[in-house]
Amino acid sequence: MPVVRFVREGCEVVCSEGTNLRELALAEGLQLYGLKGQLGNCGGCGQCITCFVEVIAERNGSALSERTAVEDQKLRRRPSSWRLACQALVLDSVAVLTRPQVGRESLSSQIEQARLEPLPKGPVLAEEEPPLSDEL
Ligand code: FES
Repeated sequence: MPVVRFVREGCEVVCSEGTNLRELALAEGLQLYGLKGQLGNCGGCGQCITCFVEVIAERNGSALSERTAVEDQKLRRRPSSWRLACQALVLDSVAVLTRPQVGRESLSSQIEQARLEPLPKGPVLAEEEPPLSDEL
């Protein structure tokens, strides 16, 4: 199971593969939005462009789902490492910075540490035991 390291908040959250990054952050009570997004956001439709995250590190190079067409359009003037959390599904362990447009400079040591610290694979679900055979 993937682990999402939220660099700004200093926490790690285990989730199922395919979890929506915005929903995960909100379920954990993390502040995903800057002031504009707090005052009003699209609820995850990819229209308000307020749920930015910056990908700091990925366990296997592509820990989030590919950019959507909405992201390609909405993020064309933003750094290539930025994503819209509402459009990104977690596929493997990843470190992200929420609200990268706010106070990034003051977090430089946490960002560097997050880049250097290996991302865990996360817990592995036990496989179901095979059904008992009728033959003895
Ligand atoms: S919540 Fe509006 S673009 Fe992500």
